[in-house]
Amino acid sequence: MAFVSTKMGQFTYFSRQVGESVWRGKKVLDFGGNIGNLLRDPNSTIEEEHYWCIDVDQNALERGQAFYPKSHWFFYNRYCFFFNPHGVPNLTLPGLDQTFDYIVAYSVFTNTTQTDMLQLVNQLEGLLANHGTLAFTFIDPHYFSWPGQYHGNNFQWRLDREKELARERGSILDTDMPALIRRAQDADWLLLVNSDDLYIETEDIQPYEPDRQRTCHAFYTEKYMKILFPHATVLPPVNNEMQHCCVIRKS
Ligand SMILES: C[S@@+](CC[C@H](N)C(=O)[O-])C[C@H]1O[C@@H](n2cnc3c(N)ncnc32)[C@H](O)[C@@H]1O
Repeated sequence: MAFVSTKMGQFTYFSRQVGESVWRGKKVLDFGGNIGNLLRDPNSTIEEEHYWCIDVDQNALERGQAFYPKSHWFFYNRYCFFFNPHGVPNLTLPGLDQTFDYIVAYSVFTNTTQTDMLQLVNQLEGLLANHGTLAFTFIDPHYFSWPGQYHGNNFQWRLDREKELARERGSILDTDMPALIRRAQDADWLLLVNSDDLYIETEDIQPYEPDRQRTCHAFYTEKYMKILFPHATVLPPVNNEMQHCCVIRKS
């Protein structure tokens, strides 16, 4: 079953983060691009034929390709907890025989392990053209994204959202949320699996059958991302979003 992203505004977000809104003539790789919402953004200046998308969800790619046949769509059968539980762990990126002026990944490493993020960012950097830019998002658990509109930090927001989603499924999440918040409060990074299974600074996730691999939300503090990626510029969210951005430029 395909996961179809309904998120919009990704081009607006990345163009603001990299400080350039004219991407015409640039080759763009949308890593984990799903059905290609980056192109659907009304502000997008990316040309259809200059857009490449790699994703672990074959069905999403097929939908994207049906809409944008001149773009380039690549299935990547790599394991991912929810998005591709039958995939191959640690699979290397498909060869594209191409380098890119922009490589972006919106809300992809917010759903993978840290090991996956480090491996994949390293491989994506190898696909940058000279003077190319790689930009990918992450979520800081302790950051307050919407002060005045929402009382809590990003981690609390996620827990509230999980409660809401459980209600929509017709069930009740009766986990002790304040206890999870206390455990998370000093963490540099953490994983929240299947709504309430919390891992603090470890990715040693207990075994789940593939059909029980529902969600795996990864969080990193801004400070910790600067340690993981010392050559990156780490930027706060823009566009009224909750996701920070890591920008790596190849000189
Ligand atoms: C939350 S969705 C975001 C989709 C898209 N970037 C957007 O903003 O609409 C995460 C996407 O990342 C993809 N994904 C997860 N792990 C991946 C990996 N290791 N390689 C490529 N894509 C991956 C998923 O299949 C899914 O399409």
